Amino acid sequence: MDIQIKDLIDRLADGHSLSIDEWIRLIEEKYDTTYLYEKAVAVREKYYGKEVFIRGLIEISNYCKNNCTYCGIRRDNNAVDRYRLTDDLILECVDNGYDLGFRTFVLQGGEDLSFDTNRVEALVKTIKSKYSDCAVTLSLGEKDYDDYLRWFEAGADRYLLRHETADCDHYAKLHPKEMDFYNRMRCLQDLMKIGYQVGCGFMVGSPYQTTECLAKDMQFIQNFNPHMIGIGPFISHKDTPFSEFENGTLEMTLKMIALLRLTCRKALIPATTALGTVAPDGRERGLMVGANVVMPNLSPTNVRDKYSLYDNKICTGEEAAECVNCLKRRVESVGYKIVVSRGDSKVNG
Ligand code: SAM
Ligand code: FES
Repeated sequence: MDIQIKDLIDRLADGHSLSIDEWIRLIEEKYDTTYLYEKAVAVREKYYGKEVFIRGLIEISNYCKNNCTYCGIRRDNNAVDRYRLTDDLILECVDNGYDLGFRTFVLQGGEDLSFDTNRVEALVKTIKSKYSDCAVTLSLGEKDYDDYLRWFEAGADRYLLRHETADCDHYAKLHPKEMDFYNRMRCLQDLMKIGYQVGCGFMVGSPYQTTECLAKDMQFIQNFNPHMIGIGPFISHKDTPFSEFENGTLEMTLKMIALLRLTCRKALIPATTALGTVAPDGRERGLMVGANVVMPNLSPTNVRDKYSLYDNKICTGEEAAECVNCLKRRVESVGYKIVVSRGDSKVNG
């Protein structure tokens, strides 16, 4: 292996910042990734051992007021069969998940105005009063400081809001004019200030992404020091303006997961459904290079295929229990073990 590449990996693992040009080299250059992956796994196992945390994902609505160009449930996609879960159905998913061993529930959805501040606040309070040993994660998009604060005070523990790209011009190529890069960044800062465990992240191989964009993502993440980082390959959706673009690759996503593990040593990094969609063993491979979280789907089976962010999404047919058992087997097949735990981040811990 090139001695300079090895030196960059070592410096990263020792906590140093890299310049944009150094990042570009590490990301772009073709080299044997064995050393990088070994280092990433060693860091992962130092902080989290062989444990893998599970999060029960509940996709509460596929209505969205936004029109993100890459996203299958964007406002202008008239082919989507829209649904929103009732509060009772959401609570049923939580009950079912608790019995299956979940201690974190992620309520995710499009930006659906029917899930307003009061409704989400009440939902969070109900879940937390029934299951005080569980964490609630919200992933409901861009809101005002006061909304985030109310949900936090109601008991929400974590918030996932991928920044999507840390390059302002690239952001403008992925989103319509009314969506503002600086507002998304403001949201992330607000969430951190309020005290949430915060997750950011991006798609690997999104349209118009350059290596410099990825380098900026890495610099942003190193400075922001999030508790969680969600990344997965971009996968095209047939009914979006990006339908003709190539998907992101397994190889590049794995490399970015390993680099993220060295950059944010204690972060929670999921092996995402998108990774499992581009390769049958994608999630296992993600775990083998530094990821430590999996997010099985707890949404009712009859809405699963309607939350279609990209084509060929996996796990749309299975019951929650089947999904959990399948993932348990997959996790064990690569030497790790799913644990019953809230699985809090050790960042700042
Ligand atoms: N509305 C919330 C938000 O904006 O954060 C949460 C839902 S949004 C659909 C969740 C994530 O899905 C996005 O942050 C994006 O990175 C990812 N996503 C959307 N379309 C995708 C695609 N075509 N391929 C891969 N990931 C995609
Ligand atoms: Fe809103 Fe995708 S455009 S969730």
